[in-house]
Amino acid sequence: MAAGKGLSLVELDEDGVATAFRADVLAGLSQVQKAIPARWLYDDAGSRLFEDITHLPEYYPTRAEREILAGKGAEFARLIGPGRAVVEFGSGSSVKTPLLLSAIDPAAYVPLDISGDFLRAAAQDLAAKFPGLPVYPVEADFMREVELPAEVSGLPKLGFFPGSTIGNMVARTAVDLLRTMRATLGEGSRLLIGMDLIKDVAVLEAAYDDAAGVTAEFNLNLARRINRELGGTIPVDKLRHEARWNDEFARIEMHLVSSEAVHFTVAGRAFGLAQGESIHTENSHKFSRRSANAILLAGGWTPFARWTDSDERFSLILADATIPRSAP
Ligand code: AVJ
Repeated sequence: MAAGKGLSLVELDEDGVATAFRADVLAGLSQVQKAIPARWLYDDAGSRLFEDITHLPEYYPTRAEREILAGKGAEFARLIGPGRAVVEFGSGSSVKTPLLLSAIDPAAYVPLDISGDFLRAAAQDLAAKFPGLPVYPVEADFMREVELPAEVSGLPKLGFFPGSTIGNMVARTAVDLLRTMRATLGEGSRLLIGMDLIKDVAVLEAAYDDAAGVTAEFNLNLARRINRELGGTIPVDKLRHEARWNDEFARIEMHLVSSEAVHFTVAGRAFGLAQGESIHTENSHKFSRRSANAILLAGGWTPFARWTDSDERFSLILADATIPRSAP
């Protein structure tokens, strides 16, 4: 599942993608701490590698979230009720969606994704599994407000944002997205959102640095993509994948660390990395119950139910669009 696809802010045509990719990479490599936005990890190869990651023994989030979705259906049904249009943000290949849809008796399903290919595949898959459920796919960048299909305009909405993709964003971007989702979904809407939890650092670091080296390949693929698509000369064999816990910001950071001093060019511009210097390629924020609530409230959502898996590794939170009030 290409959860990161939905993070893209780029235009949809290939020239537009190449232009935005080049601009992000050149700007990112010019910073003191070199950094490239995580959404560029998800080209075709990267999306396949992420799918492989979700099956790794060390990568618990997908299994933990699926355990909650599979086990709490009756509670979802009671708290969410029937007849909502389920709007999934960044539907990707929608592997978790059937568990939700079969629990709550929705009136329609609206998958949103920036990638038309993923979107059509997901929509067809869902329509086949749920005959009689209207499916209205929308190819859109959900980081901006989306106009939903007229067919669902009269229905109450349930936003669905699984996978802890929100954790890829720094707080400011996450809050912007939550507010945008609220604008897209409207008054009276609800949101079911997955948020990964703070836990033992060894467990976290293993989840992002697996023994089989799949996450390393996922990270290194970004350097390969730069070489391929931007005519780069990054010496990929000199880079090493690293997953670091940043305790101050409660996040796992992925870096590409240079094992020696290297020089290379990207799109004709020269760059270098000193020995031990890194390119920061991803943040994956982890939450406590309170930090999850704080970010939801800041984004205009009032949390009112919360579930975790049996090992308390991952949380799913149900929130209501906050009703603006002038007094506490
Ligand atoms: C797709 C953002 C949820 O942060 O856990 C997995 C991406 N990166 N392993 C995550 C990812 C490295 C993943 N998300």
